[in-house]
Amino acid sequence: MSDLDRVLAAVDADLDASLERLFAFLRIPSISTDSAYASECRRAGQWLVDDLAGLGFTAKLNDTPGHPIVTGRSETGASRRVMFYGHYDVQPVDPLDLWQSAPFEPCIVENEEGVKRIVARGSADDKGQVMTFVEACRAFVKVTGKLPIDVTVMVEGEEESGSANIGPFIDAHKDELKADLALVCDTGMWDPQTPAIILSLRGLMHDEIVVRCADRDLHSGYYGGAAANPLHVLAKILAEVHGTDGAITIPGFYDGVIEPPDYMKASWADLDLTPENFLGPVGLAQPIGEQDRSLVEMISSRPTFEVNGMWGGYIGEGSKTVIPAIATAKISCRLVANQDPVHVRDAVRAFVRSRIPADCSVEFLGGEGSPAVAVAHDNPDLGKAAEALAAEWGRPPVTIGEGGSIPVVGAFKKALGQDTLLVGFSLDDDRIHSPNEKYDLTSFHKGIRSWVRILAALAG
Ligand code: BES
Ligand code: ZN
Repeated sequence: MSDLDRVLAAVDADLDASLERLFAFLRIPSISTDSAYASECRRAGQWLVDDLAGLGFTAKLNDTPGHPIVTGRSETGASRRVMFYGHYDVQPVDPLDLWQSAPFEPCIVENEEGVKRIVARGSADDKGQVMTFVEACRAFVKVTGKLPIDVTVMVEGEEESGSANIGPFIDAHKDELKADLALVCDTGMWDPQTPAIILSLRGLMHDEIVVRCADRDLHSGYYGGAAANPLHVLAKILAEVHGTDGAITIPGFYDGVIEPPDYMKASWADLDLTPENFLGPVGLAQPIGEQDRSLVEMISSRPTFEVNGMWGGYIGEGSKTVIPAIATAKISCRLVANQDPVHVRDAVRAFVRSRIPADCSVEFLGGEGSPAVAVAHDNPDLGKAAEALAAEWGRPPVTIGEGGSIPVVGAFKKALGQDTLLVGFSLDDDRIHSPNEKYDLTSFHKGIRSWVRILAALAG
């Protein structure tokens, strides 16, 4: 039996124990956006530090102005080194009443087809994915006494809240973090049978818009018909953002947007992505993006504008005849290649300002962002990883752009000069960021086996 086969067999034999470890990690409610959970974030980071130390990594919890960053280094003396990145923080759990089991009490649920799923907040995004890599390392250490390639681990606790502190951390620790290649496990598969190597991620700009009209809440009997209503003002402006053709009407919004490279367009030809199979499972039928664009373009290579939340006035039980003084919306834009987050923010703000009535006012809170990233598609290591994935899944990975964002990935090239391999095992129906988040047991098990094969291939 080859070393590789023995390590894979050890993964299979250790699956139950590796699930127990993942469950312990999942039980820690490390919600990064809510300051009430700061100590839990720290606890999750420390849990990972201890686990890595047990595998022989020199591991530590690095303080930042926000949540701490986990780092670990192996020193096997191998000629190559990879840096693995993931995040231990998770999204908030609300609405809690829609969960069928407690979000931080992980369990295995079997669906009607006998598919076993790990259900918990963070199971797919991203603790389960992080542990696919850690368990692969564990199996190597157990069977061969060491890793086949040197590994630096960097797992942050603020990815879900914008990764504000990891850029400065990387700048300050370049020597410690430098590797031949970055590995990221925070993305999805193409479908349950087909792995994916992600070649681009969209960027993000998010902002909060606060519109104020009268200097107090008003009785709609006295003032209705005369006084401006900030909810109406805001709703009208937001409704004007999209034209009937689905395009965004904000002047300057599309500045810098480029068409995807030919190699990526070529890879779309084989993808079977239809409104039925993509939107059908979430109860929709009609793609609402730019009507002259294909569905795959809408979700990966075109920018978007979304209202993520909007509130104001009375939302309690019964009715209240009020004209509110204030209305607020949280908005975010997915960005694509060459769009500048600051330029987009300024374009959005100018569009809103120009539509605010003269006796009303608008204030913006936030406006942070990170640009889109494209990773090198011609790095030979990506070819090796593709072969390794093909060996595990019985078919080659698709190479696609992903619509989500992982803000730090741009810094791997810019600050450390290293290319990134983005491979993950999450599925479209994992409900990341939603109630009842799950990670298929197959994703976890074959994810570990995939990393074993990828590490062996990169070492060899
Ligand atoms: N794991 C996701 C990114 C992702 C989403 C990959 C969908 C593949 C498909 C990541 O944890 C995430 O949610 N990122 C945020 C970043 C934001 C808060 C700056 C996102 O994309 O909204
Ligand atoms: Zn994630």
